Amino acid sequence: MNPKDLLKKYLEFFTKKGHKTIPSASLIPQNDASVLFNTAGMQPLVPYLLGTKHPSGKRLVNVQKCLRTVDFENIGDNTHHTFFQMLGNWSLGDYFKQEAIEWSFEFLTSKQWLNIPLKMLAVTVYEGDKTVPKDEESFNYWKQLGVPKERIAYFGKDNFWSAGDTGPCGPSSEMFYWSGEGEAPKVFDPHDEKWVEIWNDVFMTYNKDNGGKLTPLKQKNVDTGMGLERTAAVLNGKKSAYETELFQSIIKKIEKLSGSSYKEKIREMRIIADHLRAAVFVLGDENAVTPSNVDRGYILRRLIRRAIRYGKLIGIQDYFSAEIGKVVIKIYGDFYPELEKNQLSILSELEKEEEKFALTLEKGLKIFEKLSAENDMISGADAFLLFQSYGFPLEMTQELALEQDISVDEEGFKEEFEKHQELSRTASAGKFKGGLSENSPETTRLHTATHLLNEALRKVIDPEIKQRGSNITPERLRFDFSFDRKLTADEIKKIETEVNRVIKMALPVRREEMTKEEAIKSGAQMEFGAKYPDKVSVYFVGDYSKEFCGGPHVENTKELVKFKIIKEESSSAGVRRIKAVLED
Ligand code: ALA
Repeated sequence: MNPKDLLKKYLEFFTKKGHKTIPSASLIPQNDASVLFNTAGMQPLVPYLLGTKHPSGKRLVNVQKCLRTVDFENIGDNTHHTFFQMLGNWSLGDYFKQEAIEWSFEFLTSKQWLNIPLKMLAVTVYEGDKTVPKDEESFNYWKQLGVPKERIAYFGKDNFWSAGDTGPCGPSSEMFYWSGEGEAPKVFDPHDEKWVEIWNDVFMTYNKDNGGKLTPLKQKNVDTGMGLERTAAVLNGKKSAYETELFQSIIKKIEKLSGSSYKEKIREMRIIADHLRAAVFVLGDENAVTPSNVDRGYILRRLIRRAIRYGKLIGIQDYFSAEIGKVVIKIYGDFYPELEKNQLSILSELEKEEEKFALTLEKGLKIFEKLSAENDMISGADAFLLFQSYGFPLEMTQELALEQDISVDEEGFKEEFEKHQELSRTASAGKFKGGLSENSPETTRLHTATHLLNEALRKVIDPEIKQRGSNITPERLRFDFSFDRKLTADEIKKIETEVNRVIKMALPVRREEMTKEEAIKSGAQMEFGAKYPDKVSVYFVGDYSKEFCGGPHVENTKELVKFKIIKEESSSAGVRRIKAVLED
């Protein structure tokens, strides 16, 4: 079955059972600082699992874009993917175990739907622990539906599901498909990896707090997740999704560019396909990030650069990431229109990152070769040199080292990294302080104006706007922020009026010291991608703005007198730049 048909069937089946289809949320969580990317379909739905009413009702179904980086090392095998699509159906305090299990069974086995022979399937249910009882109820539902009891296993840890250490969670029942040669064994062994998990029904009935304590939720929910990639592979009798339409044309393109065959370079080609597909989805997301050295940007950079290294390994000579990017957009663009909409920036970011890395990759590899020939361990300083001057993510150096059977001093690398952060922080603070040379009242005033501008953009243009950079000289401020189009003259006027309104309010400016966690909790703005120490200072402008900041600032906004924007332009893909001055 074509993967697109699987997706359609899933939505259709659950629509027939009274579910409303909701769109996939952004890959990048909007109200949850605990994860970098959505790793499961339920993540954007947490508030509704906890009891908030969902505007589309109590029965929902969708396909969610997900990205998991924990499995980085597993990429290349049959079943793991960095980016994947999770089909899911939800009951928000509506139906529970019986319907969830019956519908899972019907969708998997009925002729009209997936038509999987029962003899290929097995399930697990929760064996119970000190606080949560053994799930005999689910066991019985499966049995009543005709699953032989030898194919229903009580299982432990894996069958109590939560997205992280806290939040909504509960016992689960997982469904497995026999991927081995020949007939499936009569008795199901959940430890046997030839049984591939394809679907998970979670009965979300608890909330886990910081201390790990479980409290019953207000409502009983069902959260399910079916990996589209894995299930598509299974239904097509393939060992992995790489051999289905989800990846085939990507692999073909890689074969063509490298002159090698998939059969010979299976792991390398899978890594390239997996990583660049994930990179395209991150770059094409409605809240896209670009490659950088921190957080999401760093994961994206690692994905692209690792793909490039593997490309070289299998003989690709020219720049290729954008070529692959085009194929990815072609496969997925009709279902994920954001990819088509952002096609230009996706391809140009891939190209830019590849160009940047291509300049240093060869030289860095030479240095690595020399280091590895002479040492049993790459020192922290050398790993940092490779990172800083040749753009090798630490994980890439570690991977190269592993290939040579040597190690990397990771602690030493981190020390070097922090030392460098300290230095650059001091350097930029020093630079700022002097407005290049002196700690002038002009730069101080412009600095406070920057905070007002930052907040005003969110108030009058778009609450999602984030700072991406700032630079101040005694003459002007320069402020970069995330936004994907040019501002209109009218919008620029509105921003000026808003900043000038706050200046006139004569708000006091005050500084408070707090831990980074407290500051994040308070909702203080931080510069995207910047690193902050554990103890930070936060500047408050009245109740108007809160920002992580080292200062200095004026004491009262009235000192700014009058704010004027002199230029609005593009800084890079998805980032705009404003230059502004203060007039006396
Ligand atoms: N949230 C469950 C999972 O991701 C369904 O497996």
